[in-house]
Amino acid sequence: MQFFLDSANIEEIKEALELGLIDGVTTNPSLLAKEGGNWEEKIKEICQLVRGPINLEVTATDCQGILIEAKKMIAFAPNVIIKIPMTFEGLKAVRILKRMDIETNVTLVFSSLQALLAAKAGATYISPFVGRLDALSQDSMVLISEIMTIYKNYNFKTQVIIASVRHPNHIAQASLLGAHAATIPFNVLKILANHPLTDLGLKSFLNDWKMSQ
Ligand code: E4P
Repeated sequence: MQFFLDSANIEEIKEALELGLIDGVTTNPSLLAKEGGNWEEKIKEICQLVRGPINLEVTATDCQGILIEAKKMIAFAPNVIIKIPMTFEGLKAVRILKRMDIETNVTLVFSSLQALLAAKAGATYISPFVGRLDALSQDSMVLISEIMTIYKNYNFKTQVIIASVRHPNHIAQASLLGAHAATIPFNVLKILANHPLTDLGLKSFLNDWKMSQ
């Protein structure tokens, strides 16, 4: 399972890379806006740090506008993935970019039918937003399971990135369902390895060792 960091914060990206836990990065307009400053400079900095996929989201909503932004974005680095919202105009752009061998990530996916449409359009990745679904009392893992079944039924190569991750259990559950990737906020990434029994066990091992010396 690939892990992406869901962040546009340079310090977080550096720390996550040092931990050796991430394979790439995802951003969106809200994450970039949160960082402030010049977004192009920020993206250039991210591109210098990250070797794996860097997901950059378009803000245009019409196909032509999306294609113009996409061309600008892939000029930043060869590992840039164009993140495109799940709309009919977005799907048109995905089809065209696929023919140009440009990788895409269809974002804001909330239904299995949207996932099917994105795969048929040739998306490299899709991003179903699990946290936002759970917040509406809809079991997001049912959606992930349906998507995985549909992609298996028709042998689609599109990869599923669980997004809008809120806690480690989202990742544990999605990995059991075979999701290809998770994009993880920094606060969740930092607690992935935690378990209170590990802490207690280590404390008692070290204590016993100290007492015997
Ligand atoms: C996905 O790629 C998005 O950047 C992200 O996961 C959105 O999550 P949010 O619900 O925390 O905004």
